[in-house]
Amino acid sequence: MPKKASPCNVVIKTAKFHPMQSLQHQHQHLILIGMMGSGKTSVGRLLAVSHRLPFIDTDHEIEQRAGSSIPDLFAAQGEAAFREIEHKILTTILQGEERAVISTGGGVVVNGANRDLLWKSGFVVYLKADPETLLGRVSHDTNRPLLKQGDPLQTLTKLLEQRAPFYEHAHLTLQVNRLNCRQIAGRIWAHYSKRH
Ligand code: S3P
Repeated sequence: MPKKASPCNVVIKTAKFHPMQSLQHQHQHLILIGMMGSGKTSVGRLLAVSHRLPFIDTDHEIEQRAGSSIPDLFAAQGEAAFREIEHKILTTILQGEERAVISTGGGVVVNGANRDLLWKSGFVVYLKADPETLLGRVSHDTNRPLLKQGDPLQTLTKLLEQRAPFYEHAHLTLQVNRLNCRQIAGRIWAHYSKRH
């Protein structure tokens, strides 16, 4: 996998071919993956507005469908039920005919069926950040049920360790620790627009 250094300590990795990547992408969605606090929603919204594309946030769609917030959903039905709803909603979203920017929940990649769907439905971008940076961005947020128990830094570190092998398969990985949303969006678009 070629590695390119670029200004602002950004490391950009591009994958020429990915084993899970279908040769014939169906919809060419622009899909953001990564841990909670990595900036998927803010960056996704900015990309969509800047390039006049629809924006879909899977967590928002889950809340709409369930009629409750994600913390309430976790509390009432548990994580397994949340993951089932997440899978169903992701399947519906990715079938959408119109090309869209899609921001996903941090745990979406743990399910192999979700990964297959994501990778064959578009250009997958991993917003990579270290646990300390992630914690700094979510520490005042009460919307992350997985961080409500125990030490949040330890939880983030553990989840990142488990998920990194999946995230790292993205078509593009961007190290975002020291970048603002505008810089991240600009770099993503530069890569995406070359291919689509
Ligand atoms: C989760 C991340 C959240 C949300 C849920 C579970 C996770 O989304 O889907 O709380 O497992 O990492 P964000 O990544 O948008 O915070």
